[in-house]
Amino acid sequence: MSIGFETKNEILKTDKEKNISKKFYIESYGCQMNFADSEVVASIVSNHGYNSTTNLNDADLILLNTCSIREKAELTVRKRLESFNKLKNNNKNLKVGVLGCMAERLKNKFLDEEKIVDLVVGPDAYKDLPNLLEEINEGRNAVNVLLSKEETYGDISPVRLSSNGVNAFVSITRGCDNMCTFCVVPFTRGRERSRDPKSILKEIRKLVDSNYKEVTLLGQNVDSYLWYGGGLKKDFKKISDLRKKTSIDFSKLLKLVAESFPKLRIRFSTSNPQDMSLSVINTMSNYENICNYIHLPVQSGSDKVLKAMNRQHTREEYLTLIKEIRKAIPDCGISHDMITGFPNESAKDHKLTLDLMKQIKYDFGYMFKYSERPGTYADKKFDDNVAEEIKKARLQEIIDLQQKHSNYRTMQYIGKVVEVLIEKESKKSNIQWSGRNQQNTVVVFPKGIYNIGDFVDVIINDCTSATLMGLAIDYSKK
Ligand code: SAH
Ligand code: F3S
Repeated sequence: MSIGFETKNEILKTDKEKNISKKFYIESYGCQMNFADSEVVASIVSNHGYNSTTNLNDADLILLNTCSIREKAELTVRKRLESFNKLKNNNKNLKVGVLGCMAERLKNKFLDEEKIVDLVVGPDAYKDLPNLLEEINEGRNAVNVLLSKEETYGDISPVRLSSNGVNAFVSITRGCDNMCTFCVVPFTRGRERSRDPKSILKEIRKLVDSNYKEVTLLGQNVDSYLWYGGGLKKDFKKISDLRKKTSIDFSKLLKLVAESFPKLRIRFSTSNPQDMSLSVINTMSNYENICNYIHLPVQSGSDKVLKAMNRQHTREEYLTLIKEIRKAIPDCGISHDMITGFPNESAKDHKLTLDLMKQIKYDFGYMFKYSERPGTYADKKFDDNVAEEIKKARLQEIIDLQQKHSNYRTMQYIGKVVEVLIEKESKKSNIQWSGRNQQNTVVVFPKGIYNIGDFVDVIINDCTSATLMGLAIDYSKK
């Protein structure tokens, strides 16, 4: 096709038509928020005329939504980028974009040193993608890593990627103001802001109308959700009393969602101990459709370490919160995040972590070795002085202890009936379904007459530390 012909026709074509034959492929790393963001990106790119593909070799545009939380996460992404080099050799028109948390930190490195990347876009700049794509299609590199005070993507209707049609993520806040000293998120995702409840309800309505059965409300710190008409969380103090009175906090939002969609299962993540209020706990216990499960990261059982981490609570306050949760919701599933080998963590601090775990006996947990992140307070002020071998040994110890506790917790279900939402076929057996109970533990059972998306009562007769096994109760036979 001659250039002249193309130029002439271009005047008459919309952006969408120009790119209609192009295909994008998107891959996500890191937290649930990144997966939710990829669905926003997919929506924006699709509206700009790209069709999605799940086959890398078909793509004209590859987007990697990246994670910076630990060094290992970044290394994984870099390896993946290198593997695209070969694809670029085979397809000179292929463009590669880096999205998400690594974008801000490494934009220059990506564009200058690693010539594989054409496009770098930070978590608050996805609406600029149509312009940025235009740039790269004209042969220039394009970057936008600006963080925003307002952006919540509330007006974008996400395209559900590789969805089972049953569970979906709905983000309710962006950014984080907590400044835990080890964490890169406040730098990569910016200040905390909440999304308009109307747009949250609208998104959930659409999901319910498409037969989705469960949503997870997402934020770095959901309990800190606060809608007062838009703007940063930290500016709330400055507004009028009337606006304060009509503001909506997380417990009100939960109530609103639970009442608007009584048949929908509702989960949320992540809760921060210092922001989780009794009214949230009470709302959970008042509504059947809010799952009895809380992910409540603690990071350490030692007050000395918690203080150095700038976690805004003590060990005692955390234990009191757990007591309150168990009092109001006796069967609540509780999980944690834990870091071993934070700077200056002593053998005594580590023992306090083990001791805290023994007191709580979490259902499960996510456990990590401390990874120093450039630019954080801990990087600037503390020495990463716990030897790698010790970090590793401590991590193994907490993993082993958690395994014991998980086993203890799953054993408690034997002989009991749990409500399971069927999500997929079991990985291990094509004659079994796999789903989760309210407490977020995986349950597998023979398929019988049931289908994906059904709620089924299952009587538990066996377990491993991570999975419950049982039989569905067929009430029609009674
Ligand atoms: N509030 C967030 C936390 C995001 S980070 C949320 O939505 O889950 C998830 C977990 O990664 C943290 O709870 C912490 O346990 C771990 N983590 C964060 N920074 C880390 C670091 N520098 N080294 C090791 N683990 C880290
Ligand atoms: Fe990170 Fe702490 Fe926020 S772990 S995401 S700074 S709550």
